[in-house]
This record gives sequence, structure tokens and C-alpha cells, in this order.
Amino acid sequence: MTQQTLGVCYYPEHWPESLWAEDARRMREAGILFVRIGEFAWSRLEPSRGDYRFDWLARAIDTLHAHGLKVVLGTPTATPPKWLCDEMPDMHAVTADGRPRRFGSRRHYDFSHEPYALECDRIVTEVARRFGDHPGVAAWQTDNEYGCHDTIESYSPAALAAFRRWLAARYGTVEALNAAWGNVFWSMELASFDEAELPNLTVTEANPSHRLDFQRFSSDQVVRFNARQCEIIRHYSPGRTILHNYMGSFTAFDHYKVSEDLDAASWDSYPLGFLEQFAPDDAMRERYLRVGDPDHQAFHHDLYRACGRGRWWVMEQQPGPVNWAPYNPAPAPGALRLWAFEAYAAGAEVVSWFRWRQAPFAQEQMHEALLLPNSEENEGYRVVTELSGELAHLSARVESARADVALVFDYESEWAWKIQPQGRDFSYLDLVLRFYRALRRAGVSVDVIPPTPEAVAGRRLVLLPGLFSPSAAFVDALQTSGAVVLAGPRSGSKTPDFQIPADLPPGHLRRLIDLKIRRVESLRPGIAIPVAGSNAGAAFDGWREFVVPGAAEVAAASTDGEPVLLRQGPAHYLAGRPNAVLADEVVRRLLDAAGLEALTLHPDIRVRDNGPLRYVFNHGPEPIDVSSVIGSSQLLIGSPTLPPCGVAAFRRG
Ligand code: GAL
Repeated sequence: MTQQTLGVCYYPEHWPESLWAEDARRMREAGILFVRIGEFAWSRLEPSRGDYRFDWLARAIDTLHAHGLKVVLGTPTATPPKWLCDEMPDMHAVTADGRPRRFGSRRHYDFSHEPYALECDRIVTEVARRFGDHPGVAAWQTDNEYGCHDTIESYSPAALAAFRRWLAARYGTVEALNAAWGNVFWSMELASFDEAELPNLTVTEANPSHRLDFQRFSSDQVVRFNARQCEIIRHYSPGRTILHNYMGSFTAFDHYKVSEDLDAASWDSYPLGFLEQFAPDDAMRERYLRVGDPDHQAFHHDLYRACGRGRWWVMEQQPGPVNWAPYNPAPAPGALRLWAFEAYAAGAEVVSWFRWRQAPFAQEQMHEALLLPNSEENEGYRVVTELSGELAHLSARVESARADVALVFDYESEWAWKIQPQGRDFSYLDLVLRFYRALRRAGVSVDVIPPTPEAVAGRRLVLLPGLFSPSAAFVDALQTSGAVVLAGPRSGSKTPDFQIPADLPPGHLRRLIDLKIRRVESLRPGIAIPVAGSNAGAAFDGWREFVVPGAAEVAAASTDGEPVLLRQGPAHYLAGRPNAVLADEVVRRLLDAAGLEALTLHPDIRVRDNGPLRYVFNHGPEPIDVSSVIGSSQLLIGSPTLPPCGVAAFRRG
């Protein structure tokens, strides 16, 4: 089992070579072990075609290695240099409104542009051949944040040609495509695959089946792009860990599929930037201004642990104010430490900080780092130094036991409900997060899982809200697992072709729970459908379904007499989008049915189990007494009264 450790992102090409050795020395002094470099350095590695200048990178790697650091080498393909863009001006992606992207920032390439992909093969081969067996190179990062700045879909001629080939491979005959998409509607029938278009610039919405296939295709292009790099790296650099750094609240490609070619997943965690961008309301933005949403990071830790099949890192951790959110507050004292321990508690092998020294130039000059631009220590440097001591003291190790409770997150469902929200603010990710938050408020450690039969084995409770089109095999696995199951709302409501199932929703799930959905309604914000008999305010908001129960029994109903929660044996169906009170009530009922313990916690407290260790976190602005969680256990770190941003850890009895 691996000892959990620290890393940092470093850009030797940004600094005079005379600083490198001192930087490396100070990294080690702070307890940092991994250092990621190189991912944007193409213009310095190959300033003009074929003119490879790898010596500076060799000296940088040698210097870092000589100081005992392990290098994570990035492939530079997210930033093709100007000369290359000028050679092939059609390599830039085209936006949905038909405008080509331009050189001048990053990610200015089209995943479907084969000549660019060949250029990537070439530069990755050269770099991997030169450095693949260097003893200081411990890991690789492919590219950088696939999809950042909205760069997955492209509406270019290259994408169109590739999409037509993809459709032909998927459907075989154009008749099959016409049937799957329902193209008889509005005279959309095609006579050959060469007539298929991209789903942009249509007068009103394009066919949802067409759009979903375009999303699947765009995702597959990323899988292909990443797989090519992995294959080259594996050939020249065997035995090294290959990672990619994913993002938060970003779902435009299937991260499970991309991860199949990687050895481990990683992601870039910016809690305050994400709070500004993604928090469900301003009350949360205010309460957690300097510490971040208590569940958003944790959800991504759990999601990317699933992607990495148990192995994952934080590749970039926020060290101070960032530059890219609408507002960029400073973290609370202690927040950096809290974030790092949250990641370790969820099983991270490495927490790596972005970045070593603040750049005084270019786009990210307002983004803080562990050091100030003049190399003086910033707060992050001090936090990291202390953390490395604490980690050693805890002898924190990576544990990967299966959690009893699993929550399904599925990328196709996210695409489907983005394409067809039916109510303006319906979001699959938000729906899944409502259940995730409720589980966390009950003190439960969760595995996020894909909807595959293997992921279900051994679980005691599985939740699959909003799961667009579960496969028959997945439903079989749920049935034989004996787990308590929660489906709905919208689970099983479409076929994989994006049509309503022949026997009505919830499709295959009727084998678990006998009911039918005859109508759905969406509701504007502020309108609630209260649950009968709830004094606490349990209600649906935004979405509800009208259910014909069949053999399923109604366990709760709305004040207007419609089924809210239905049950048949271990299977449950929730017929709407729950507010927080209802989500809490349903989750507690399910935990009870599964024979699992629900804790009663202060709303700012979160708990996470990692093997024998239980961690307790205070995300709130006041000290909180957590002695009821700790019981008679001996604390390894922290105190029974947890200060703001406090972390406690103890061995579970
Ligand atoms: C990430 C990216 C980094 C840097 C960072 C700033 O999205 O991977 O290169 O831009 O954000 O917060």
C-alpha cells in the first residue's frame, strides 16, 4: 500500500536555469515528492519543425531527480505552437455557431483533425523516446484537461467526415439510423450516411437522438486521442503511471472510457473557483466563501477514484486566490490543509499543488502559488511543509475498500438530460449531487460508480437517480445483488436510441419494481409539491412524475394524492426531484432498509472513512463539538472541538 504524499506543478521554462536547483532543494525541504513539468512547453521543445531542443528539459529533469524528486512529465499537445498552426490552419476546432478557434491561448485543436493527431504522435514519440527510461521520470500526464474552455465538440469539416464514418460503423445501414433517430418525423430521413450533418445551425432544436450520437462520437474522439498517446508512452516508458488531469463539474466526454487507457485518474481541484461557478445558491456561496462547497470536491474525489479503478491523484490543488472565477476570494486559514486531508481521506495517492511559483507574466499572473513571484514563501508553502510532517505522523496510506453505498453517475445520462431537460433548470449532475449531499449529511462514505454489473457486486445500497437508459445486464446485476435500490426520477425513461420505451418508463427497471410513468411535469423555481404528513417541508421541486403503481406499494404520497415514493421488496422509486429535506428523509429510510448506520451531524460536519481511519471535517465558520462522532476513540490528529477548517482522524474501533 502506498504512502500518501505531496506534489507540485512546475514550469522550468518560465524561470532562469540558475533557479532550478534551489527550487528543487526547497521542494524537497517542504516534503514534496512529485513534480509535474512540461505540459505546455512545445514551443520550447520544438521552436520550428524538426528542430528538437530537448537539452534544457533533460537538465531540468536531471536537476529535479538529483534532489530526490519524481517527475511527472506532461505531453505538450494542449498547446500546439504557432508554426504548426500556420502550417495547418484547419486544425482549429469550429464552434457550434460555425466560427473557427484561433491561436493565442491553449487547447486550439480539433480532436478529429488527423494531420494534427499525427503531429501529436510525433512529438509524444520524440519526448517519450528521449525521456521514457530516465530514472527520474515516474509518471506521465497526457495533454492537459481535455475539454477545458469548452473544447470537446467541434463542427469542422474534419469532425463531419469522422462523424459520418462513426455513424456508419454504429448503424451499418442508413435505414437503421433512420429508425433509431425516428427520422420520419419532420421529413428528416437520410438516403445515405454521406447525407448526415452535424447537429448545429438547425432552425430549431436538432433531433435529440442525433445530438446524443454526436456527443457520443465527440467523446469517442477524446478516447481515441488519449489512447494513442498512452500507447506510445507505454512503449517507450514501461512501468510508469500514466494519468490525465480531469476537471470539476465537467462532463462533455465519458471519463470512465478515457480512463480505461490510463493507470490512474487525476483531477484539478479548485474549491473556491468552483464554489463561485457551480454552487446551487448564493446562501452556499456566502457560507462557504473561503472553504468551498462541503460536497463538491468530495464528489469528484469519489467519481475519479471510480475512473481510476481505485487509483487517483489530485494533480492540481488550489493554493490561494485563482484568476479565472467571476470573483476570486482568498481561502480561510486552514482551508488548504482541509482540502488536502479531504483528498487523502478519499484515497488520493498524491495531492499536487498548482503551482510552485506565481508567474509575473501572461494570463495567470493573478493566480497564487506556493511561492510569490519573487520566490518568497507564500501561505501555501508553509501549509505544505506542515502537511508533510502530519502525513508522516499519520502514516496515511491509500486504502481501497468497497463502500457499502454506491451512487451511479453516468455520462450518457448527463448528455441526455442536457439535450432534453424538459424544464429549464433540470440538471442530471445536480440531481445526483442532491443524493450525494444527503448521503454525506448522514455521515456515509460513498463510492460513485458507472452503471455496470461489476460495479454493483457486494453493495448494500445502490442509488441510480436519473439514469437515462440502464442496460438489461445492469438491471440483472441489481436484481441478483440483493442490494436496496433507489431509482427515479427519470431513471429508465428512454431507450439507448433516445426514444420512450415500448412499455413506458421506467423500461427495464420494471423488472425490479412494477410501476409505470404516465405523465411528467416540470415546474418553475419556487413551486413545490409537498409530501403529505411532512412537517419539515419535504417536497419535490422542479420535476415530478405521475405513477401508475402496479404491484409496487406507495410508501409516501404528495398532498395532492400522487405517489411520491414507491417500494417493492428492496427496490424503491422516487417520483420527482427531492428538495434537501426529502432527500435526507429518503436516504435515511434507505440506509435503514439496508441495515446501515446514519449519523446525526452538524450541517457543516462531514465524515469520511479510509480503511481503518475515520476522518472528520469542519467546513463551517464556527468551532463544533464532534465528540459524539469520535466516541471513545483515540485521536491521531485534531481535537473533539473542531475549529473552523479543523480535521480530526482516528482509528475506527
Ligand atoms: C487548470 C489548468 C492549469 C491552470 C489552472 C489555473 O485548469 O490545468 O494549467 O490553468 O487551471 O487554475
